[in-house]
Parts: sequence; structure tokens; C-alpha cells
Amino acid sequence: MVDNFENEYFGIGIQNGKTPENLGVLWRTAQNLGASYIFTIGNRYAKQACDTHNAVKSMPYFHYDTFQDFYDNIPKGARLVGVELDDTAVDLETFHHPRRCVYLLGAEDHGLSKQAIEKSHFLVKFKSQLSLNVSVAGSIVMYDRGINKPRS
Ligand SMILES: C[S@@+](CC[C@H](N)C(=O)[O-])C[C@H]1O[C@@H](n2cnc3c(N)ncnc32)[C@H](O)[C@@H]1O
Repeated sequence: MVDNFENEYFGIGIQNGKTPENLGVLWRTAQNLGASYIFTIGNRYAKQACDTHNAVKSMPYFHYDTFQDFYDNIPKGARLVGVELDDTAVDLETFHHPRRCVYLLGAEDHGLSKQAIEKSHFLVKFKSQLSLNVSVAGSIVMYDRGINKPRS
């Protein structure tokens, strides 16, 4: 895993992502906005994600069959940040991004699983009338991390 001199890193991925196009957009943004690694959970488009996107050749790409498998292998000391338009989520506008964390986005149709929401150390949302495309949502979170540098 890539680390930097400020002792911070983040990974980002999708739970049960549905379309390879969305994964491709997210990977490209992740590569350009400083992610250290990317991942998928569940099998819907894992193979295509691995085969068709250059980003997976440029940074570590992990695949987990189940949420539990993913959760058991979160880097030690990293926090899990679920990204979901949920009543219990805190606003991204006031959120302090952890120095070391893993951002988890939900599927295009079903969103994050209940288990993922419950296990997230933090749950964040940003204002939108309806939920946005998953790759757009991930891009907003990564951009926000870039302009609101982690403090803790
Ligand atoms: C299209 S949305 C899922 C919608 C799903 N049908 C639902 O109602 O839960 C796909 C993913 O994008 C992210 N997302 C979209 N809009 C968001 C928002 N305003 N705040 C936080 N996450 C958002 C979440 O990770 C969500 O699981």
C-alpha cells in the first residue's frame, strides 16, 4: 500500500457495484485524486473492473467476496467511512476526514447494506435532492478530502 510523508492514505470502493462504467469512472477519479488503493465487494462486476481499467494496473486493486471479508481486512488503524444518503449520516460539509480511512460507497440500485452502515465508524452524506450516481458521489467525497485536509 502506498503511504505518504504526512502519514495519511485512503482507499475507496463500491459494495456490489452494478456497472463497469461506474467503476471505471470511480477508478479514474481515485487515481487522480490521491487514492492509495481501490476495491470492490461482491461479484457483480469485479472481473470487468480488473480487466478493463488502466487504474487497476497503476494502484493496488483488491476484491472481497463479502462485506465481512472486506471488513476483516481493513488496514490496521484505518477508519471505515460509509458514504450514504441516510438520516443517521453526518454532513460532509462539516466532516473531518480521518487521516487513514477507507471510503465505502453503495450499489447503484440498493445502496449500502444495513451491515455496512452499522459497521461504518463514520457515515457521511452530502446534500442532494435524490441520491447521485455512485461514481459522482465518490468523486465529491474525494474532492472534499482534498480541499479539507485530514486533521486527526
Ligand atoms: C444511486 S445511489 C444508491 C441509491 C439507492 N437506490 C438508495 O436509495 O439507497 C449509489 C450510492 O451513491 C452514494 N450517494 C449518492 N448520493 C449520495 C449523497 N447525497 N450522500 C452520500 N452518498 C451518496 C451512496 O454511496 C449510494 O449508496
